[in-house]
Amino acid sequence: MTEYGRALRHLFALEEDMVFLNHGAYGATPRELFDRQNEWRLRMEAQPPRFFMNELPDLIREAATSLAGFVGAAPERTVLLENATSGMNAVLRSLRFVPRDRIVTTDHVYGAVRNALRFVAERSGAEVVEVPVPMPLRDPSEVTDALGRALDDRTRLVVVDHIASPSALVFPIADIVRRCRTRGVPVLVDGAHAPGLVDLDVDAIGADWYVGNAHKWLCAPKGTAFVCARADAAEIHPTTISHAYRQGLTAEFGKIGTRDPSAWLCIPDAIELHRHLGGGALRERNSSLARTAGTELAAALETELGGPAASFAAMVTVRLPCNLDATWENAGRIRDRLWQGHRVEALATAVAGRLWLRLSVFAYNDEADFETLPEAVRSTLAAESPRTAVPPSGRGTPSASPDIAPGAGAPSSAPGPGARAEGRARGQSGAGAA
Ligand SMILES: Cc1ncc(COP(=O)(O)O)c(C=O)c1O
Repeated sequence: MTEYGRALRHLFALEEDMVFLNHGAYGATPRELFDRQNEWRLRMEAQPPRFFMNELPDLIREAATSLAGFVGAAPERTVLLENATSGMNAVLRSLRFVPRDRIVTTDHVYGAVRNALRFVAERSGAEVVEVPVPMPLRDPSEVTDALGRALDDRTRLVVVDHIASPSALVFPIADIVRRCRTRGVPVLVDGAHAPGLVDLDVDAIGADWYVGNAHKWLCAPKGTAFVCARADAAEIHPTTISHAYRQGLTAEFGKIGTRDPSAWLCIPDAIELHRHLGGGALRERNSSLARTAGTELAAALETELGGPAASFAAMVTVRLPCNLDATWENAGRIRDRLWQGHRVEALATAVAGRLWLRLSVFAYNDEADFETLPEAVRSTLAAESPRTAVPPSGRGTPSASPDIAPGAGAPSSAPGPGARAEGRARGQSGAGAA
């Protein structure tokens, strides 16, 4: 049986003297996978034309096939990309929309995806509708019902998270897809967090396109993502059109100019390592610790979880006891202060009109990581907002101001012309909020 927690920390390159509770943002790659990646790079550089022209196409398919097996998808309809943002863009920018078409999503949508939607809407005259998902969520069916109610005859696409970034809620994705497809509406799922976090069966979910990352919870080197398409889904192309245009899905995505594919080629090793760390048992253990730690933090802060414990995997959100505006600017400052004052890395988020702390748990975390968290959070909030830290009954004030993502330097994602945000305070998940 694997011994988790501190005992496993040496497998990772993480700094020693910190509490790292943000695996969800960028994952953390085990050292042995760097070594593997370097071996691929050396093989690439030993004879570059042979590697790229003769060997790489098959190597990419081998990596994609192993990933497809892990996520429950058809290998011939699974393609690799650098990141989930590119995958979401590839699908969105392959589809054609006309004025008055509606694209429905939720107000938990990831900020970069919100911008991609905005881009597509601005170019076509389509309308983006953001359906509010309440937090705390009382029951997962609230998400399905909210999206279901938003579908109408003009709805051409639903874009929905499997696990939402700002809330960490695991949406009832198979139910959502079923509801949309019954109405004849195609679905694009943003499953950036799913592989390695939940038990994933892409085919059973049945979305038209499922996009995911291997560089988060599967710990693959950075730059490993995928799109799986249903057999009957509309045709998609990479955002970069290259030599293999119109030669089929896998050829087109496999050949997009010169790039470093070494991270992709480590996918089979990342899957093997995940299994070695326990696979399903690891996921269960991480989820259980995250739910317990989140519940205890909420009790200590006299607040609440962002939804029922069962709606979270190894990443949970706890409402922050303050009445600061629910903006990404405030969330970014809270994260910075937690780090600077306490060397705790955890993401603060702004969604559904409130500020939340998102806690991620991976194999290297254990109970000790949460011991001083309540005090660290309390003192962070007191420093951030000395006069406004409020007792548990206090409610965060919805923000009317446009949200600025920390470090983004520009308004993050006000809906574009023709776009309609039905959300309350817009919890914009912007740059820097992963
Ligand atoms: C829900 C969601 N979608 C998309 C992304 C983007 O992932 P990437 O940075 O790999 O493009 C993230 C990143 O955190 C995410 O949480």
